[in-house]
Amino acid sequence: MRKFSMMVGALALGVAVVAQAATPQQVVETRQKNFKAMGKAMKGAGDSFKSGTPDAALIKASAATVAGNAGQIEKWFPAGTALGGAIKTSAKPEIWTDKAGFTKAAADFSVAAKGFKVAADSGNMEAAGKAMGALGSTCKGCHEKFKAKD
Ligand code: HEC
Repeated sequence: MRKFSMMVGALALGVAVVAQAATPQQVVETRQKNFKAMGKAMKGAGDSFKSGTPDAALIKASAATVAGNAGQIEKWFPAGTALGGAIKTSAKPEIWTDKAGFTKAAADFSVAAKGFKVAADSGNMEAAGKAMGALGSTCKGCHEKFKAKD
């Protein structure tokens, strides 16, 4: 048991070292890539709903992509990656000055993303459409407060 926890500790240390090796600009680029993939998944699902004949498999895959980021977003914003410095980002300083607000926005997203996945997995496209609408509001809610306009 003791040996195991030491191993876990060493692993965690390894991860921390790797994270430090990324420059702030690289951290920003990675999170922007993740957001872009989410945006693409949401657009694909949205277009499918709009077509009037939603593609359940496509929507299920889109929901899985988005739900894969549940519980992750906050970790993409280490200190020192706000706009205003040399790095190119739309991350407002409020992410760090209103930490509680950002945590809540991320938590709301996580709940809604999981809800979308559950609904999409069920195959009930009406429920999935509603769940996606609720999820979309959490994207918008966070962007309005914490993302600078491009
Ligand atoms: C908790 C806050 C938060 C939530 C929730 C959130 N976003 Fe964002 N998003 C941001 C921030 C902050 C940025 C700016 C990142 C940067 O430029 O470093 C961003 C950037 C983006 C971008 C632009 C990426 C680029 O090309 O630079 C897209 C697209 C995007 N988000 C889509 C979404 C979608 C779709 C959802 C919901 C499914 C979502 N976001 C949920 C905070 C959030």
